[in-house]
Amino acid sequence: TRAIVARAPGKLFVAGEYAVVSPGEPSVLIAVDRYLTVSLSESVDAGSIHSPEYSRMPVRWTRGQDGLTLDREHHPYDYVIAAIEVSERLRAERGLRPRFFDLFIESGLDDPSGRKFGLGSSAAVTVATIAAIDRFYGFDLGTRGRYELAMLATIAVAPHASGGDVAASTYGGWIGYRSPDRDRLRAARAEHGVAPVLGSDAWRGTEITRLAPPAGLDLLVGWTGHPASTERLVSGVSRGTDVADGAHTGFLDASRACVEDLWRALAASPPGTTPPRAASDDALALDAIRRNRRLLQALGARTGVTIETDRLRILCDAAEAIGAAAKPSGAGGGDCGIVLAPAGADVAGMLRVWETNDIRHLTIGVHPPEGEH
Ligand code: PMV
Repeated sequence: TRAIVARAPGKLFVAGEYAVVSPGEPSVLIAVDRYLTVSLSESVDAGSIHSPEYSRMPVRWTRGQDGLTLDREHHPYDYVIAAIEVSERLRAERGLRPRFFDLFIESGLDDPSGRKFGLGSSAAVTVATIAAIDRFYGFDLGTRGRYELAMLATIAVAPHASGGDVAASTYGGWIGYRSPDRDRLRAARAEHGVAPVLGSDAWRGTEITRLAPPAGLDLLVGWTGHPASTERLVSGVSRGTDVADGAHTGFLDASRACVEDLWRALAASPPGTTPPRAASDDALALDAIRRNRRLLQALGARTGVTIETDRLRILCDAAEAIGAAAKPSGAGGGDCGIVLAPAGADVAGMLRVWETNDIRHLTIGVHPPEGEH
């Protein structure tokens, strides 16, 4: 039988990081034109997971009393296993006959030498695995269902993840995103199972809005060369946050104000609509990104977490010096910075500063929205 091949794009955060961890707070993300691919083929007595990246650590799985039984304890496949487990629950709840499959994972999201760019490989592997299993069992989940199932898998591994990366990888394009209440989702899953949670009220507050790309701005991505741990940064920020003193509420209010400006600047065009749409307000978009950068700097200073490293500062300052707007993308602490540059800005000058400071320009574009490619 022929293998099922599912591919999912990586992502970059554009705005709203850290705030988006709180349910209902807005953010902006893009899906990028670099991909992770999962190939699935049916197998007989057990399933398995392989990738060239971890070629010495294939995992074999079978079905146990509760969940999967694995042939090794330590492996790099937490998200893949969580995606299989949540799909397995759905399969059982729908009364479908259990089958086995082998998964081959190939990531195009990192440097050929294996160094991580921080483009959301965890979300992409979760989304691609769910997409492959969806087709294998014929769940017919649709885009929203694949987001929801991938999100349930994600929060089984990373309880506090906002899932913005999952939404971007599933929907493509530029999106506005507000996260669901993950405690409520976990409780609903534990009480009712997976199938009843899909499409249910447990997702209230979640928002995934298609945004239009800023018409007159170029997106540029710089890579610091340093991998960062989102988990470590996010828990550092939450340890450094005294919810009682009001400073964090102030941060959330200010982040919401600038991200909502960015949503307004990127005139929303609902899925399926064809142009014409209102033109984007590029000046407002640039201003919103610059304000968001300042907010993240203040958040880092207040909590004692280095969100904007020296190299990210150089990257962003060089962008602002040519009239562009820039900020760390995602949790910061390394990985990438994003730049929106108005037409006519001295991008070559900025790239020279990057080069002198060992900041690599990644040639990355936007992966088109689902249903338009
Ligand atoms: O570092 P990244 O690209 O995984 O993004 C993390 C963004 C945060 O808002 C800090 C955390 C989250 O779960 O949204």
